[in-house]
Amino acid sequence: MNVVLGVTGGIAAYKAPLVLRLLTEAGHRVRVVPTTTALAMVGAPTFEALSGQPVRAEVLDGATAVDHVDLGRHADLVLVVPTTANTMARAAAGLADDLLTATLLTATCPVLLAPAMHTEMWQHPATCANVATLRSRGVAVLDPDSGRLTGADTGPGRLPEPERIVAAALALVGLSPDGREIARADLTSAGTDAVATPSGTSGAGATIHGLPDVDAGGGPGPMASGACPPRRQDLAGRRVVVSAGGTHEPLDPVRFIGNRSTGRQGIAIARAAADRGARVTLLAANVEAALLPDELAIDVVPVGSALELADAVTAAAAEADVVVMAAAVADFRPAEAGTSKAKKDGSGRRTIELVENPDILAGLAADRPRADQLVVGFAAETGDESGSVLEHGRAKAIRKRADLLAVNAVGVGVGFGDVDTELTILDAAGEVVATSAGSKDQMADALLDVVVDRLAAPTIGQ
Ligand code: CTP
Repeated sequence: MNVVLGVTGGIAAYKAPLVLRLLTEAGHRVRVVPTTTALAMVGAPTFEALSGQPVRAEVLDGATAVDHVDLGRHADLVLVVPTTANTMARAAAGLADDLLTATLLTATCPVLLAPAMHTEMWQHPATCANVATLRSRGVAVLDPDSGRLTGADTGPGRLPEPERIVAAALALVGLSPDGREIARADLTSAGTDAVATPSGTSGAGATIHGLPDVDAGGGPGPMASGACPPRRQDLAGRRVVVSAGGTHEPLDPVRFIGNRSTGRQGIAIARAAADRGARVTLLAANVEAALLPDELAIDVVPVGSALELADAVTAAAAEADVVVMAAAVADFRPAEAGTSKAKKDGSGRRTIELVENPDILAGLAADRPRADQLVVGFAAETGDESGSVLEHGRAKAIRKRADLLAVNAVGVGVGFGDVDTELTILDAAGEVVATSAGSKDQMADALLDVVVDRLAAPTIGQ
């Protein structure tokens, strides 16, 4: 397939060679068309070496080949990674003042833009209008991720990861990343308008958010995070408590029993809630400092063990409208934690007696400080011979009686860290309320959509 890879913009242009590599490794012939600014960030030799094709930026470069017409005419797919606010404005206005915009004007194939910019620029009414114009013309414009941006700022505007951009672009022409034919995706309505509000009913009313389900070979659904125009402040005035990370249960002053949770999902929920106007308390159980949010609307309370987390939840939940237990809490702790480092005794064995920790989620759901408080849990499941991920999730929902339980599959390399995930959101009776697939940011928004729905309903806590 002939692909034109436009590259514009600042620092995020460093991800363009990664996108290029994914495309060429999948067997596609790629012509890179950078803007002059992008060329200042990533030089032509890099693009030429990786694509094996000449790289030109201006209309008159290589004029004998009439590139500005030919590239667009012969392309099967055009993607622009990253796309700046400026390039989107030029494309929306129909300008053709460099080779990339000329190519966009002549292309008749599917076009995908992957914007990256500071949040203010993404959410500016001018950019929103340009995005709407381009989408109305059939151009697929991805909503950016939410997260750390080029400076010290965080928020919507971050370029999605190259794998996800390539998957979305290929889905536009009906291909999976591994070259299988799949149903062509329609991404032209991505954005807040396209993200339906979960029905709040069970089963058939479930809503699907997120990026392509690559493994299942399905097409992409709408993207929920970083939407333009800025999302409504539907959690304004609400207090939300989120626990994140994994507890450490001390064996002695230097050793502990822990788990693989990084805290990313809980942090994504805290950020999304703050973005939607909530005042957030993040109870961070052993979360790496670099991952912790620095938004003013998020108070971070570090905790270590399950007992410390239980105390922190009790303190924070008193005032909360919503409590989301995303932390992986150790079920057991050593019955005794030594005050000095335990030594080997020469027997070649060591037995550790464990005692059960309190179930914080179930305890809170049964005894809420406020009757109208919404209690949300997570169920990280692996599935086993006694039941599937969903069956275990259902049993847990019924057992814990949280208002909502977000169930996802975990295992070594699955569900932990900076990876996409799938969530099924159950109610206290174990009925499916919504399903969602994509990045942790998208999961966070999908869950909060259901939370907002429930806060509006009169049955909380009953
Ligand atoms: N949880 C909790 N307190 C515990 C254990 C878990 O509050 N002692 C919460 C987690 O924060 C999560 C939910 O319960 O929201 C489910 O956690 P999970 O570890 O999946 O469930 P467990 O109760 O540990 O069940 P099991 O080990 O039997 O799967």
